[in-house]
Amino acid sequence: MSIVIIRNDGKTDLWKAALLRQDSTVKVYDHREDHPREAITMALIWKHPKGSLRPYPNLKCIASAGAGVDFIFEDPEAPTHLPITRVVDPYLASDMSEHVLAVILGELKHLYAYKAQQLAGHWQPRSYARIQDVTVGVMGLGELGALTAKDLARVGFRVLGWSRTQKDIPGVSCFHGEAGQREFLSKANMLVCLLPLTPETTGILNREVFARLPKGAYVVNVARGGHLVDVDLLEQIDAGHLSGACLDVYHQEPLPKGHPFWKHPKIMMTPHYASVSDTHSVVPQILENYHRLSSGKELLHQVDKDKGY
Ligand code: NAP
Ligand code: GLV
Repeated sequence: MSIVIIRNDGKTDLWKAALLRQDSTVKVYDHREDHPREAITMALIWKHPKGSLRPYPNLKCIASAGAGVDFIFEDPEAPTHLPITRVVDPYLASDMSEHVLAVILGELKHLYAYKAQQLAGHWQPRSYARIQDVTVGVMGLGELGALTAKDLARVGFRVLGWSRTQKDIPGVSCFHGEAGQREFLSKANMLVCLLPLTPETTGILNREVFARLPKGAYVVNVARGGHLVDVDLLEQIDAGHLSGACLDVYHQEPLPKGHPFWKHPKIMMTPHYASVSDTHSVVPQILENYHRLSSGKELLHQVDKDKGY
């Protein structure tokens, strides 16, 4: 029984060290080193190269090192008949909530516009807005969205939430399904996307959805680049229907040089860093599942493959 880590973002040694620090008996390999492929029972992966899960005849579980699993379903050679697990972690949720709060307050207090004005040497006070004046709509009320919505409500925003099935979250007006989407959108001055990327949610941040938001709405996409139709966002901002957007995720990461988002004055960008798995906090659930594999117990945080999240 062994673990192989498959990722190419320079963080393999960090994960390997964190696993060994918490259990020195575990056998863990970097996929680029020589390793006994038949011994591998768990693949701990993050944006693995397509096809790289194939050469493991005794693989029993695919563990995403993050909350999202879209990149696994995007690999046509991934053995998706195996259990797929994902990260559910309090820091992943609270870091996301803090990020969204910071972005929303920054926009509310015009900090991004004032920075641009400063660079242009332009003194121009803008209209004042308070937390209580703003309704934030959170799409996706799962591990991250529910906490983000609750925290926004706690600091005084009016908060709406939208999910596939009905939720009951204190301080949050919850809508669900296609039927609830129109009313949800019609009231959201700021729209936060925290949906998983699935065939149903791909391209959900599009012209029709933007058109249903109140004029001047602001869009925050912290979920996946595939949720957003880039040209529709640009069109709606340039037409003045949307006031701007803050994006953390992109169709291609890093965002290619020359993409219009880079220089757009009303688009704020962060480099997919809203919330990142904390190895210290996440490793115990990975090790727990690794041990559950040998005892045949049900794995924690399994993905529902029919739903894709
Ligand atoms: P989660 O717990 O699986 O929650 C997903 C939520 O989305 C659920 O409320 C679900 O509704 C809802 N949903 C799914 N499909 C829907 C649809 N077709 N219509 C309406 N609602 C739908 O996911 P999570 O852990 O909160 O993570 C969400 C996503 O955040 C991840 O998949 C990942 O892509 C992204 N993420 C980004 C970062 C970053 O740094 N930018 C970090 C971590 C995660 P039901 O509950 O009714 O099923
Ligand atoms: C980050 O994007 C994650 O899915 O954990």
